[in-house]
Amino acid sequence: MFSKRMLATALVAQTCVAAVLNDRSDEAQCTKTTVAILGGGMAGVAAAQALSNSSIHDFVIIEYQSQLGGRVHHTTFGKDENGDPYTVELGANWVQGLGSPGGPENPIWTFAKKWDLNNTYSNYSSILTYNETGYTDYSHVLDEYENKFQATSELAGTVLRENYQDMTVRSGLSVTGWKPKRDDMTAQAVEWWEWDWEDAYSPEQSSLVFGVAGSNLTFNQYSDENNYVWDQRGYSRIITGEASTFLKKNDPRLHLNSRITEVKYSDDGVTIYKDDGSCVSAAYAVCTFSLGVLQSDTVSFTPDLPDWKKTSIAKFNMGTYTKIFLQFNETFWPQDTQYFLYASPTTRGYYPVWQSLSAPGFIPDSNIIFVTVVGDQAYRAERQTNEQTKDEVMAVLREMYPNITIPEPTAFMYPRWSTTPWAYGSYSNWPASTSLEMHENFRANVDRLWFAGEATSAQYFGFLHGAWFEGQNAGEQIAALLNNECANVTDTSDACGNLRHYENLYGSSPLADYSVFDGWSVSSFYSSS
Ligand SMILES: Cc1cc2nc3c(=O)[nH]c(=O)nc-3n(C[C@H](O)[C@H](O)[C@H](O)COP(=O)(O)OP(=O)(O)OC[C@H]3O[C@@H](n4cnc5c(N)ncnc54)[C@H](O)[C@@H]3O)c2cc1C
Ligand SMILES: *[C@@H]1O[C@H](CO)[C@@H](O)[C@H](O)[C@H]1NC(C)=O
Ligand SMILES: *[C@@H]1O[C@H](CO)[C@@H](O)[C@H](O)[C@H]1NC(C)=O
Ligand SMILES: *[C@@H]1O[C@H](CO)[C@@H](O)[C@H](O)[C@H]1NC(C)=O
Ligand SMILES: *[C@@H]1O[C@H](CO)[C@@H](O)[C@H](O)[C@H]1NC(C)=O
Ligand SMILES: *[C@@H]1O[C@H](CO)[C@@H](O)[C@H](O)[C@H]1NC(C)=O
Ligand SMILES: *[C@@H]1O[C@H](CO)[C@@H](O)[C@H](O)[C@H]1NC(C)=O
Ligand SMILES: *[C@@H]1O[C@H](CO)[C@@H](O)[C@H](O)[C@H]1NC(C)=O
Ligand SMILES: *[C@@H]1O[C@H](CO)[C@@H](O)[C@H](O)[C@H]1NC(C)=O
Repeated sequence: MFSKRMLATALVAQTCVAAVLNDRSDEAQCTKTTVAILGGGMAGVAAAQALSNSSIHDFVIIEYQSQLGGRVHHTTFGKDENGDPYTVELGANWVQGLGSPGGPENPIWTFAKKWDLNNTYSNYSSILTYNETGYTDYSHVLDEYENKFQATSELAGTVLRENYQDMTVRSGLSVTGWKPKRDDMTAQAVEWWEWDWEDAYSPEQSSLVFGVAGSNLTFNQYSDENNYVWDQRGYSRIITGEASTFLKKNDPRLHLNSRITEVKYSDDGVTIYKDDGSCVSAAYAVCTFSLGVLQSDTVSFTPDLPDWKKTSIAKFNMGTYTKIFLQFNETFWPQDTQYFLYASPTTRGYYPVWQSLSAPGFIPDSNIIFVTVVGDQAYRAERQTNEQTKDEVMAVLREMYPNITIPEPTAFMYPRWSTTPWAYGSYSNWPASTSLEMHENFRANVDRLWFAGEATSAQYFGFLHGAWFEGQNAGEQIAALLNNECANVTDTSDACGNLRHYENLYGSSPLADYSVFDGWSVSSFYSSS
């Protein structure tokens, strides 16, 4: 793939970097630890807990923000009748896939019960449909999509098992008969609700095989339920709760408000530099930065990451999913309904899905509703001022409820995920023409630097449980290396100590590798002990 000439140039460049680095004599001043965990989100906390479970207590968690939780991130919004603010989730919001009797349970659902999270079943049948003229019932189009998608899902299974060439979800939908016209804005809105809303990318931008396999592994293996978390302590309670099982109050191993700027790695160890000039030197490190952070080049790696790793970072997509919150002095929309789908007459994905927090079982009387945009519409909204976006969403609400005089919102707020410097986006998505081998390269360690997080999970990318399993695996693998106990590692797909990577890609992996996706029956793949 790479010419000898390019390789020679790269080697010369690396030698120069090494010479410069050897001049730096500050490494002796670095804080010493056995394992450095870069980032304190779900994956970082899982990695630390796995180390603790294996009696490795000499680690540090280095986190940019002032708290643990990462992309499980809440803020205060609006106020209740006493003038106290509500808590709303800017990031992860649902437990996706719970568990069924006799089957495996989503570990996030286990935590939700353990930490007593207030959450409510998201009823996707509790939906009313609208367009620019107001309420208009096109719920039959939802049924039509769902019927056709059944065949699309089966097609994905065939492509996976027969090791055929992957294709986009758009191609898969077309082959199996879902072919919405470009100007059929009703069908476009339905398709957005069914696909883009989950994946933060369009069917054109998503892999058929890995998109459907991922969805199956979560919703067929655990359950098809999505429970919406509205706990007023915030969803991150499960992460701070789990962290409290191994971290003391003011534990010196937790370095908050610490932005990492450089990671220097080798097969002897890893040194991490922070923006205040301090450093930590470790025998091993687990990098849990989001795909967006890795793609942003805001953290430098020394030496430069190898080409196989850099290419894999470039090959996956970081989606943006933006929730825009409004509070009113009254709930003027139907009180008993959870979802409202709006079909814009001109623009696919223009403020399409509205969610009521006033609905029964959520936060009645909160008078809070929010609308979600993804992809290009999210980038556009995130560049706008609050005032511009407020005007647009209010105009949509006036179309949806032409007979109601809609008051001005009493509170309005939304995050800018695409430019948040510790995330650069919301969650990852798998594009077509990106193989499992490429994903293994993304997941593999480089010397003593390991990678874990939502995006390194081939089965559960995009989900919180993916981040949990990946953090657990990295922690277990490093613990096994340190304790000389590779047999205890639950991820049996890899040799302990070094995850597989490919210098040369051969397109599809051998069929055997795909067995990890082959239906939800392969529940032993990750037996979270
Ligand atoms: C809007 C949105 C909606 C979502 N909805 C759901 C959902 O409903 N259900 C679901 O299961 N999942 C959902 N997700 C995905 C879920 O939030 C993630 O999969 C999960 O939180 C990722 O955890 P992680 O540990 O891999 O990464 P992160 O949570 O990103 O953890 C990485 C940590 O690294 C830190 N960091 C980054 N850069 C630096 C640096 N330079 N120096 C030091 N620290 C740094 C970050 O601050 C962060 O704390 C959603 C995400 C978003 C954003
Ligand atoms: C650590 O051990 C506890 C108790 O057995 C278990 O519940 C938890 O899942 C383990 N954590 C990880 C990350 O494996
Ligand atoms: C590894 O497994 C063995 C046997 O099950 C057990 O005795 C040992 O404590 C485990 N080690 C770690 C680090 O978990
Ligand atoms: C979901 O909503 C639909 C439509 O309102 C209703 O018929 C159904 O009973 C609800 N299901 C649950 C489990 O609440
Ligand atoms: C608005 O009111 C008019 C007149 O009463 C009625 O015909 C129309 O159906 C209403 N529209 C909606 C969307 O409720
Ligand atoms: C997904 O699950 C369906 C059953 O609901 C199955 O027919 C299909 O083969 C599965 N597809 C993949 C890619 O796992
Ligand atoms: C959880 O829900 C109960 C019942 O509605 C409520 O009384 C309690 O305040 C809620 N707690 C949190 C932390 O949200
Ligand atoms: C919106 O719905 C109305 C009423 O059903 C219909 O007449 C109109 O054509 C729809 N608009 C579009 C763009 O489909
Ligand atoms: C909300 O505000 C509007 C306009 O300011 C007003 O007409 C309406 O009566 C108010 N609703 C309530 C429940 O106070």
